[in-house]
Amino acid sequence: MQRRYTLTDRLIGHADGMLQTLGTKPQASRPSPAADMRTEYLNPTEQKESVRLMRVNHTGEVCAQALYQGQSLTARSAELRITFQQAAKEENDHLSWCADRIEQMNGKTSRLNPLFYTGSYAIGAFAGLLGDRVSAAFLAETEYQVVEHLDRHLDRLPIPDSNSRSILSQMREDELAHAKTAEQAGAIPLPKPVKGAMRVMSKVMTGLSYWV
Ligand SMILES: [Fe+2]
Ligand SMILES: [Fe+2]
Repeated sequence: MQRRYTLTDRLIGHADGMLQTLGTKPQASRPSPAADMRTEYLNPTEQKESVRLMRVNHTGEVCAQALYQGQSLTARSAELRITFQQAAKEENDHLSWCADRIEQMNGKTSRLNPLFYTGSYAIGAFAGLLGDRVSAAFLAETEYQVVEHLDRHLDRLPIPDSNSRSILSQMREDELAHAKTAEQAGAIPLPKPVKGAMRVMSKVMTGLSYWV
């Protein structure tokens, strides 16, 4: 018999998810794409830049966890809720790979992550309240914008940093798959100003987490 989860059950589960995302280092279900690679030599300037870029990507994954959790809270169909939760599991791999890579380079994750998590959770829950098709559209657009962002970071990474490059390449592939899944879940086209506002918000997040 399948257990029915109440809103309180789900909120408790989400609080646990938040603590795992922000607190302990998450366990990945797939090995890191960088796991088998030789540790390459990065000079101090290259290393500093790689840490900053991977910190931005780590914060992006913190936001992804929060968005998916928020959207699953207010999703109307159980099917879409399961889709969000499944995608959150895959995003957890990205979170773990980025955290590992930052640690390898003796860097630090963003101190602003709790703030970004809270904001993203609220945005995800609000998107869900607008209906499943809007929520799916929001998700698809987010993932397409992440793919564009990753393309820019793949260009910006210092050339010798093949470990970070392998991680971002696999993430790009996964994010594209998430966008397609969201489209198949019935996403409707989003108005241009909404897409523009989403770009502005992600600029704020990437700009701040690069430095802090
Ligand atoms: Fe991701
Ligand atoms: Fe994704």
